[in-house]
Amino acid sequence: MLLKTVLLLVLGAQVQMLENGLLRVPPMGWLSWERFRCNTDCKNDPKNCISERLFMEMADRLAQDGWRDLGYLYLNIDDCWIGGRDSKGRLIPDKERFPNGIAFLADYAHSLGLKLGIYEDLGNFTCMGYPGTTLDKVVLDAQTFAEWKVDMLKLDGCYSTSSERDQGYPMMAAALNATGRPIAFSCSWPAYEGGLPPKVNYKQVAENCNLWRNYNDIQDSWASVLSILDWFVAHQDILQPVAGPGHWNDPDMLIIGNYGLSFEQARSQMALWTILAAPLFMSTDLRSISPRNIDILQNSLMIKINQDPLGIQGRRVIKDRNHIEVYLRPLSNQASAIVFFSRRTDQPYKYRSNLAQLNLTSATMYEAQDVYTGDTISNLKQTTNFTVTINPSGVVMWYLYPLRKRQLFQH
Ligand code: GLA
Repeated sequence: MLLKTVLLLVLGAQVQMLENGLLRVPPMGWLSWERFRCNTDCKNDPKNCISERLFMEMADRLAQDGWRDLGYLYLNIDDCWIGGRDSKGRLIPDKERFPNGIAFLADYAHSLGLKLGIYEDLGNFTCMGYPGTTLDKVVLDAQTFAEWKVDMLKLDGCYSTSSERDQGYPMMAAALNATGRPIAFSCSWPAYEGGLPPKVNYKQVAENCNLWRNYNDIQDSWASVLSILDWFVAHQDILQPVAGPGHWNDPDMLIIGNYGLSFEQARSQMALWTILAAPLFMSTDLRSISPRNIDILQNSLMIKINQDPLGIQGRRVIKDRNHIEVYLRPLSNQASAIVFFSRRTDQPYKYRSNLAQLNLTSATMYEAQDVYTGDTISNLKQTTNFTVTINPSGVVMWYLYPLRKRQLFQH
């Protein structure tokens, strides 16, 4: 009876929007899953196992190596941290691997100016078989995360039914709100329903979640990046309009710095995720990442574009028969980001176009800055033809902005 009352109260709250004021721009940070998976072998692999040590070392890197100051604030724990539940049913972390508990890690992250994210699963078990959050545990677990001073929750969906998810995700959104602590809510809800209407009601998802996984897990390969991109582009008419400040599509983690991408492909993932207004969660070993990969991830103009306050997701606007694609994202101050992307596998390709062909029809004079080289391309009128040279599986990315009158006089 009591449970029923609690359920009704919580469900009653679901008609309101998730107005927690969080994530007005896509979240940035680090997430353990893609790179460190469910490695629990701390005995033989103490440096890389899912443990307090791993998260503290990544926190140190985020704070000391420039990441935090560029906006990479979230330090997010994924699966395989849970040890069980105590006699009151409260979640407890694995005692061996997290001897000081999650509140300690949250304090550590906060002391460095970072935020801590945690993972649970709406269902009997997490995807890797650890204790999940069943409907009767949702409120208790939300309270536990708030007491630990957690700042984000990723709620996965393994071992749950559609109807449990329909109930459970809004229930968790309300339960997090009810704690009074600002906790950003990352839902895997749409991904477990195939990611598309009519099974997914994106209005309802956006009313309950700050970000959500729509599609399959990323793996450490270019093929995986492409399969995610292809799915997002194929369904951009559905997905593009549902993203905005406070509520984002999530094509999954950045795999830059790992084993599967060439230098050009790493640049492409960064540019394409930025055009998609995607969350930028790195999942790589920040203790050993190469300077070239750091440069890609710490490109400040790229980050400025990703974090643009309008929060408009970009779209593919051209699919050329020569295997060149063009993506466009409108930005604040009448600026735009443009990505010229090559799917070719032969040699650098000279792609000729003009702004009119990209649907930029304003009569203004533009200037562009190449996001990776820093070069400036001046005096771009609607019909000025230009040529960009795009490497195989690479990108050229432009930040395009109208020249103001004053700037025009100077030319
Ligand atoms: C699912 C999620 C992944 C990761 C794993 C953990 O597959 O989609 O992102 O959290 O579970 O087990």
